[in-house]
Amino acid sequence: MRVVSGIQPTGNLHLGNYLGAIKQWVAMQDDVAKAGGDCLFFLADLHALTVAIDPKELAANTIEMAAALLAAGIDPEKAILFNQARVAAHAELCWILQGTARMGWLNRMTQWKDKAGKNRDGQSAGLFTYPVLMAADVLVYKTTHVPVGEDQKQHLEFARDVAAKFNTDFGVDLFVLPEPLVSTAAPRIMSLRDGSAKMSKSDPSEMSRIHLTDSDDAIAQKFRKARTDAEPLPDTVAALAERPEAKNLVTIYAALAGKTPDAVVAEFAGQGFGSFKPTLADLAIATLGPIRDRLTRLLDDRGAVAQILARGGDRAATLANPTLAEAQAAVGLQV
Ligand code: TYM
Repeated sequence: MRVVSGIQPTGNLHLGNYLGAIKQWVAMQDDVAKAGGDCLFFLADLHALTVAIDPKELAANTIEMAAALLAAGIDPEKAILFNQARVAAHAELCWILQGTARMGWLNRMTQWKDKAGKNRDGQSAGLFTYPVLMAADVLVYKTTHVPVGEDQKQHLEFARDVAAKFNTDFGVDLFVLPEPLVSTAAPRIMSLRDGSAKMSKSDPSEMSRIHLTDSDDAIAQKFRKARTDAEPLPDTVAALAERPEAKNLVTIYAALAGKTPDAVVAEFAGQGFGSFKPTLADLAIATLGPIRDRLTRLLDDRGAVAQILARGGDRAATLANPTLAEAQAAVGLQV
């Protein structure tokens, strides 16, 4: 079993990333290591170049996001933690796969459509071909499983299409078709201000998301001001179907508590948000507070975090380079 996943080092880690992906990464690293497999987790700094960036901020964010992953429980003895730019095979394989990926497939990507909006001509070419690099990230390790939030599932289907077409076109059995692993507890955490938009780093409103660096007071305030309705909680999750903001808070509670949403509504049925929100805030503070405190300590020694990434990058490269060499040979490159 080989597990690979990435996160863009733009902004801070938020609760959507944590519950949708990172919690799964942490949970998997022990089992996979025990079963003799590998977990590789990386900061997708090359992907961050597809939108406007400040070079100093990108460098700092990469270290800060790596520290946040360590604080959340990623153990560099069990998992390989690195930044994408350090392993040149990602970008090299990406270029080879540009010859396999089809424009029509890219045109169908909902993330591209959402991010580009009406101004397609004004976007970077990289934003359009973003999924090809993501396919390379995964295929270069012959990855079997990719733990992600639901929003990345379409990109992984694209990666599977690229892998299958490459194998067929060049008559090889080289790339493994990766399986997405989407957390059932928290497939998609929504904005605290709008139950129809996912919690996202690119939302201009800070009140829409909880950061792992938020103070206890900020967490409590964001939940207090979260948009909800005046109805009390029902006794079934199905009854929340038309109440997306209310449903989102129940999902968050359930994912933090390690319970099912059904168990949560059964526990709080009949209560209004005036009492549910403070209970949710207390639970979030109890879970996120220790992560924030570890993160603060880790950021006292950024050099040590950079060293962990360098070591992880070397280990990742030894796993990636043989696949890159096979792909180069398959397409007839003399390198
Ligand atoms: P990114 O940086 O947007 O998010 C990192 C992870 O967090 C998940 N996530 C969420 N899950 C639930 N609810 C939310 N509101 C929410 N917001 C984010 C994402 O699904 C993701 O798992 N393209 C990727 C990074 C990437 C990658 C890869 C992932 C690059 N190469 C290869 C897997 C494999 C991205 O931008 O994730």
